[in-house]
Amino acid sequence: MDKNLIELGKKNAAFRAVEENVKKNMILGIGSGSTVVYAVKKIAEINQKNNLNLKCIPTSFQSHQLIVENGLTLVSLDQYPEIDLDIDGADEIDKSLNLIKGGGGCLVQEKIIASSSKKLVIIADFTKKSEFLGEHWKKGVPIEIIPLAHIPIMKRLEKLGGTPVLRMAQAKTGPVVSDNGNFIIDADFGIIKNPLDLNLKILQIPGVVDSGLFLGMVQAAYIGQADGTVKKI
Ligand code: A5P
Repeated sequence: MDKNLIELGKKNAAFRAVEENVKKNMILGIGSGSTVVYAVKKIAEINQKNNLNLKCIPTSFQSHQLIVENGLTLVSLDQYPEIDLDIDGADEIDKSLNLIKGGGGCLVQEKIIASSSKKLVIIADFTKKSEFLGEHWKKGVPIEIIPLAHIPIMKRLEKLGGTPVLRMAQAKTGPVVSDNGNFIIDADFGIIKNPLDLNLKILQIPGVVDSGLFLGMVQAAYIGQADGTVKKI
């Protein structure tokens, strides 16, 4: 896959989503990941140019930094528990706009912000679109867990038919520690035909904080295509 075309897809999707959805005086949820970087740059540009008075709530340490570095106004969920618009990326998007998220490990905060938003808009390149979840995203469903419970949770996920792996850090020995001080398990369930049923079973396991399955939450998805166009679904 051509990396330049993927980057172009991310950028085009992000720019168009921002141009069509961001309005004056909005409280915005700012997602995490590499596609959101383009969205934040565009949000900062139009905020300054058109004096939009935007207020931004982060979904991770990364997006907190993006907001600050781009000169946007940082606010909290405590001050603004009802968000007008959340713009976020995704690891995979199925035909019903269900998502796998959490490839960057920020799923819990992302789901809290998404569920507190009147509108969730997803931005992604063409490699993220599938008919069913698990078709293209082969790393498994990210699941944030309480560290103490990681062994019993792995066993329970295996009983559900998954292949769980504790996500390990790159430049540190031991596991990835999330922004919330938890561990992350990636559990491969193959092609997921019934994400609702799977999600309910995962969430019932004691010690699971949340899963990266975002179901029935998305209002619109902007998918940047390889030919430079953007498909809105
Ligand atoms: C972060 O935990 C994820 O949910 C991201 O939103 C997702 O991985 C998309 O990231 P990219 O925009 O980098 O593909």
